[in-house]
Amino acid sequence: MPKEITFFCLLMGLSIAGCSSGEDQFVYSGFTDRNLSLDGGARIMPSGLIELTDSMVRQKGHAFHPSPVLFHKSGTVQSFSISFVFAILSIYPESGHGLAFFIAPNKNFSAAFPTQYLGLFNDHTNGDPNSYIFAIELDTVQNYDLHDINDNHVGININSVRSMQSYEAGYYDDKSGIFLNLTLNSHKAMQVWVDYNRETTQINVTMAPLNIAKPVRPLLSTTYNLSTVITNLAYMGFSSSTGTVTGEHYLLAWSFGINSPAPPIEITKLPELPHLGQKAQSKTLKITLPVVIMVVLLGACIITFVLVRRNLRYAELHEDWEVEYGPHRLSYKDLFDATEGFGDKNLLGTGGFGMVYKGVLPVSRLDVAVKRVSHDSKQGIKEFIAEIVSIGHLQHRNLVRLLGYCRRKGELLLVYDYMPNGSLDKYLYGKDGKTTLDWTKRFQIIKGVASGLLYLHEECEKVIIHRDIKASNVLLDDETNGRIGDFGLARLDDHGTIPEATHVVGTIGYLAPELARTGKATPLTDVFAFGVFILEVICGQRPIKLNTEDRQLMLVDWVLEHWHNGSLADTVDIKLQGEYDIDEACLALKLGLLCSHPFTNARPNMRQAMQYLNKELPISEITPNLSFSMLALMQNDDLNPYIILQCPSEMGFGTISTISGGR
Ligand SMILES: *[C@@H]1O[C@H](CO)[C@@H](O)[C@H](O)[C@H]1NC(C)=O
Ligand SMILES: *[C@@H]1O[C@H](CO)[C@@H](O)[C@H](O)[C@H]1NC(C)=O
Ligand SMILES: *[C@@H]1O[C@H](CO)[C@@H](O)[C@H](O)[C@H]1NC(C)=O
Ligand SMILES: *[C@@H]1O[C@H](CO)[C@@H](O)[C@H](O)[C@H]1NC(C)=O
Ligand SMILES: *[C@@H]1O[C@H](CO)[C@@H](O)[C@H](O)[C@H]1NC(C)=O
Repeated sequence: MPKEITFFCLLMGLSIAGCSSGEDQFVYSGFTDRNLSLDGGARIMPSGLIELTDSMVRQKGHAFHPSPVLFHKSGTVQSFSISFVFAILSIYPESGHGLAFFIAPNKNFSAAFPTQYLGLFNDHTNGDPNSYIFAIELDTVQNYDLHDINDNHVGININSVRSMQSYEAGYYDDKSGIFLNLTLNSHKAMQVWVDYNRETTQINVTMAPLNIAKPVRPLLSTTYNLSTVITNLAYMGFSSSTGTVTGEHYLLAWSFGINSPAPPIEITKLPELPHLGQKAQSKTLKITLPVVIMVVLLGACIITFVLVRRNLRYAELHEDWEVEYGPHRLSYKDLFDATEGFGDKNLLGTGGFGMVYKGVLPVSRLDVAVKRVSHDSKQGIKEFIAEIVSIGHLQHRNLVRLLGYCRRKGELLLVYDYMPNGSLDKYLYGKDGKTTLDWTKRFQIIKGVASGLLYLHEECEKVIIHRDIKASNVLLDDETNGRIGDFGLARLDDHGTIPEATHVVGTIGYLAPELARTGKATPLTDVFAFGVFILEVICGQRPIKLNTEDRQLMLVDWVLEHWHNGSLADTVDIKLQGEYDIDEACLALKLGLLCSHPFTNARPNMRQAMQYLNKELPISEITPNLSFSMLALMQNDDLNPYIILQCPSEMGFGTISTISGGR
């Protein structure tokens, strides 16, 4: 053998023999004194067990055979066999996320994610053919994205946590041929065999309880040429991960053979599994009565502690009056699990009212958005919940459906349908500078929002005022239909439950002047905000912008000025690059101006607005005539003289709003 190669291998801390483990087979019955490389939560316990993960959340752990194995011979992966004994313990009926045997090109899994990625992949490497990872997963959580069949399955995975083949955990009885299922999270040790044949490229996976010999019929069998997956020199080991559901994952024994069967594991020599809640120290403890009692007490204490902690963690606020809203109430634990513990990974955004998280409801597997709103005051909460629930009954294709709520101390959680395309403002003011919404979609969104508002104002049982129509409260569903969200939240301010709340509710720039003055929301104050919203969508600009002298310029004033100068088309969003329907654009702009008219009697109601948009009322009727406006302004006793004084000679629009309060 050339010196350089020997030297190279020595550098790696291995001899050539070491490169191939110096052995074609091995068997470990228990791991005491074994030189396995461990990382993450993995540790070898005094009894010889390997604990890959304990009950910590979002943990990963790996145990590797220390030296790599030379798998290839003349460019082909050799036949190999492995067998191992594992056990999963959890004090809960569910445990997560499972463990896997794997073969990988290196031992560096620092970038892999726990949870459903099993500590082997992350969102980038999952599915990447350059991962060169072969794995057998024992999965205890059903993940729909990964097409998991259930929460108790065995799978063959190649470069992905999405299994190429999987089946419920269990085995075929040799005598009867009947399939008998096994529960992975059963606190019982079980054995698994993985066999690969180089000629046929067949992969067999078999499992059985400890007292049963290897069944003849494998649980899983497929063919895949692993020569394209396993690298020449590769590491073998075990990986495990937890998420918000956790479990203790143990390895008791492991054997391996290349071009030979895996040596049998001596079942009688296996280390003992710990009892629940008590780590595997029992072997070192003298089993005398007082100790047993102590251990039992300790176990009870730990379980009580865990239960109490769990209770505190998932504590909710319930009051008698809420009974009737039972069906709309969701448990905090479900929401906690759905959003993976409100983790950063699931954070969709932070709005004025709090954080919004994406989640998947446990049983229905429905995608949801969970909004956490802080509310400290009890005042008004009853009415608020009543309103929220009544809105929850509403079904309209332009409204975001509210699915339910949950209440905790100081906090309200609202659960909505998940809108995959996010909020509209993102598209209008996207930083990338390129248009993501073409004309047809914009016009369709405006019509959709109009239709949703018409429904709220006129078509459902009682009049519902949204109070906070704006681009960031319009969400886009999977077909980019506009849907109105965040109902009633503006209302929450009325009750002073948001610390910095003012009496006037709504967003500056969208506030109708009479609302700013009186604080009284009406359907026509929604129409005003809708008018501003239309201009926002057509112009691709925010309702208030700063001009070069740092002065606030109202979008409405700017559009109005262009209208007077006969250059209305110049206000259309330049990001559309001229690709729009000029008639529709002018119609929408004029309607926007009309809706955001300072005088309520000049604004159309939503039904009329809808008719204009559908071209059922002629566009010529829309004439936001300013002289008329001024006249009306003078005649309206109702108006605050201060506002009249604030009106500059020509345009009385935006300046009114600038004195209005709000968030
Ligand atoms: C474990 O590794 C160390 C050095 O890495 C070596 O000295 C020791 O003999 C090894 N023990 C076993 C049991 O292989
Ligand atoms: C492991 O991989 C990460 C990135 O994937 C890298 O930052 C780190 O340096 C690597 N560690 C070792 C010991 O190679
Ligand atoms: C295993 O099979 C039994 C009997 O068929 C069934 O009742 C049980 O639900 C199954 N267990 C699992 C985990 O599927
Ligand atoms: C897989 O199982 C079948 C059925 O028992 C057997 O005929 C075949 O040889 C096995 N293949 C391997 C690679 O062990
Ligand atoms: C598997 O792939 C290797 C390398 O691509 C090739 O040499 C070998 O013939 C293939 N084995 C089978 C059985 O097709």
